[in-house]
Amino acid sequence: MRIAVTGAGGQLGKALQRVLADAHEVIPLSRADLDLEHPDCVQALVETGAQCVIHPAAYTNVDGCARDPDRAYRVNALGTRYVALACQALDVPLVYISTNEVFDGASTAPYAEYDRPAPINPYGFSKWAGEQAVRELLRRFYIVRVAWLFGGERNFVRTVLRLANERNEIAMVADEIGSPTYAPDVAGAIARLIETPYYGTYHLVNEGFCSRYEFAAATLQLAGRTDVTLRPIALAEYQRASCVPPYTPLRNVAAAELGIRLRSWEEALAEYVGTLNVQR
Ligand SMILES: NC(=O)c1ccc[n+]([C@@H]2O[C@H](COP(=O)([O-])OP(=O)(O)OC[C@H]3O[C@@H](n4cnc5c(N)ncnc54)[C@H](OP(=O)(O)O)[C@@H]3O)[C@@H](O)[C@H]2O)c1
Repeated sequence: MRIAVTGAGGQLGKALQRVLADAHEVIPLSRADLDLEHPDCVQALVETGAQCVIHPAAYTNVDGCARDPDRAYRVNALGTRYVALACQALDVPLVYISTNEVFDGASTAPYAEYDRPAPINPYGFSKWAGEQAVRELLRRFYIVRVAWLFGGERNFVRTVLRLANERNEIAMVADEIGSPTYAPDVAGAIARLIETPYYGTYHLVNEGFCSRYEFAAATLQLAGRTDVTLRPIALAEYQRASCVPPYTPLRNVAAAELGIRLRSWEEALAEYVGTLNVQR
């Protein structure tokens, strides 16, 4: 299949290219090829002649989205509408990558696909609006919600390891809970999903969940950095531009029915840290 991948330079975009390259012709689209902030991107995407489009490109800086909600809306909502319009013109399926932050985090049990989204920050609103555009315009789509992605060059794991090199003590939020997810594992699951005709909304995260504090502790342990002290703090103590949904673990109910399962986040993290050349 001829598959266009937006956000080709991003964490998930790169993982998708690696996973799909053997069995498919991949068309990687960077921002220079396809600027989501411009309506011309509809025509540019149509001209690729793609038979399937995977759309992970987004304005992913959650605090940046809070400072500039208009940009969040332009890139994540309108940009996704343009991508969906191109898929409509091409009459091909779209895989739209969405987020755990469509939920408000007030639950006490992991969210399934059929739980009601209620975003609480501009990033979450803009990604939820992107989902709505896909549902309004297309018959054939997979909306894939992921969370707490790691696997590329810029992510939580890398930040923790960088801080470990700079400080003796790291403060980490202990009451924000989520599902750490390895980008190559999601990419593998998407590669299987697009071979099926089961369109709809999916959660694709690694098994299990933890707090930011536990995620950081596991990272430091795997990297052999037990010399660094990790200090638990409350979300309320951590000043940032965006408000944070405190509890957003996801449950992969729909994918499990298709036999698509992801390993535990601990196993995936061990593999990822093993690929990094951890230096003090
Ligand atoms: N990272 C997470 O923890 C997380 C959690 C939940 C959901 N998600 C979702 O998962 C998807 C992939 O995340 P990721 O971590 O792989 O993202 P990422 O590494 O930040 O990559 C995002 C990509 O989007 C591109 N992009 C940004 N603005 C654009 C524009 N106006 N036009 C075209 N391209 C643009 C970026 O290009 P430049 O490099 O040129 O800026 C970058 O290549 C996103 O849809 C995100 O919302 C991520």
